[in-house]
Amino acid sequence: MLDIPKRSYLGTPATAPGPSGPRMLPAFAGIRRNPLNYLHHIWRTYGDIAQFPIPRPPSYLLTDPQAVRRVLVDRARDYTKDTLQYRALALVTGQGLLVSQDPREHRRILQPAFHPDRLAPLVRQVDQSGEHLVAHWQRLPSHSVVDVEHAMATIALETVGQALFGQNLTADAERLVAATLDGLEVVIARARVPITPPSWMPTPRNRKLARANAELDSAAGQLVRSRRLRVGSPESSDALDLLMHARSDSGEGLTTAEIRDEIVTMIVAGHETVASALTWCLALLASNADMQQRVREEVDGVLSDQQLSMAQLGQLPLVRAVIDETMRLYPPAWLITRKATIDDELAQARIPAGALMIMSPYLVHRHPEYWSQPETFDPDRFLLGQVDRIAFIPFGAGPRLCIGRDFAYAEAVALLATLIRQFEFTFPTGMQFPAFDPGVTMRPVGGLKLRIVQRS
Ligand code: HEM
Repeated sequence: MLDIPKRSYLGTPATAPGPSGPRMLPAFAGIRRNPLNYLHHIWRTYGDIAQFPIPRPPSYLLTDPQAVRRVLVDRARDYTKDTLQYRALALVTGQGLLVSQDPREHRRILQPAFHPDRLAPLVRQVDQSGEHLVAHWQRLPSHSVVDVEHAMATIALETVGQALFGQNLTADAERLVAATLDGLEVVIARARVPITPPSWMPTPRNRKLARANAELDSAAGQLVRSRRLRVGSPESSDALDLLMHARSDSGEGLTTAEIRDEIVTMIVAGHETVASALTWCLALLASNADMQQRVREEVDGVLSDQQLSMAQLGQLPLVRAVIDETMRLYPPAWLITRKATIDDELAQARIPAGALMIMSPYLVHRHPEYWSQPETFDPDRFLLGQVDRIAFIPFGAGPRLCIGRDFAYAEAVALLATLIRQFEFTFPTGMQFPAFDPGVTMRPVGGLKLRIVQRS
């Protein structure tokens, strides 16, 4: 067991090292600005398990990869998503899969939409969206500076719309991206401050949330209505078909609210994350010219002028390694939380039932016992099989592993390959590699603008 100084927080005994209340108080403004930097500092100072001076719930930062695995995989049933993070997210996603306490039924319904067989049409569709973006950028004057973050968010939303709901969301993309970001902004603001006005109070933030939700509701309603009007039988079942035709053992279908919640969950979980990963990939490649060139050579050797295919994606190990290494350094979902429902022992500390476990892939991915030179961007580590997968959790792990993982990989590899094949990316003069802003996903402060040069 750990040697803990005798301390208690309003009656809750300390069971792991950590900052005292008076020590944490001055850090509060910094925590609100960038909570992840503060978590990093706590890990560096107190080690793989640290306790915050918060009595209810007793709150721990857990960074030991073995112990994180115990929480997410081995004892997953004893650690639930009943946490502030997921309660805040539910303000936007309702009781969709991401936040649900018992996801089994909805996961069973949705799983076929993410079956490997469905990835081939996804890749064809990403290929088309990618070509549209390429054509748009090609029409710009040479050496233009483009808003990469915005372009990735739009294209990722179109991909979700087309692949999961068979709908072209291009026309609505601006509004939906804005609504998602607005909704998530309120979620973050709530998650960062423990005491917030209830959501029915007409504060400016709550009104913003209500507007964002109305936008997302209307998008979901529109999707369902147009699917009901569809004539003829579908060629294959996408997520929307599965949701609309699902039946429980007793023959009941999902309610309109349940369908809305899953649609919004897919929009929220499925586009910001992929957009974040791709944005950071391009930022890292723009600042690593040699690696960018190596990736381009790999892509040139595989891609032809024919349509991009699943088989080709499998022949791009370096592209995939760049994506993995990017998500190691900038995991889009940088925060995972769970509530302990049992007394347990983690990283040699006694954990009481009811405790909040805070885990960050960003920190686990930098654990020096698992990663050499953790701060260095080095995709080769993934090619050389040097990675201990237990310390690589960009998609979580265990029964709540991201349902969209293979979807995200296929989309990201296809898009990155398409873009790198056509353009060279550099930072505009005077612009530096961006700092990160850990919101619901990890975004570059001030967005990401890059100079593109079309390849001849
Ligand atoms: C790079 C892209 C992505 C990243 C990094 C990512 C990350 C994650 C992580 C870390 C979790 C687990 C959260 C936890 O255990 O608390 C998760 C769950 C989830 N993700 Fe993703 N995700 C990505 C793409 C997607 C896509 C494309 C979709 C859908 C279209 C999606 C839908 C979901 C859903 C529904 C869950 C909840 C699954 C469950 O709890 O059963 N994600 N994701």
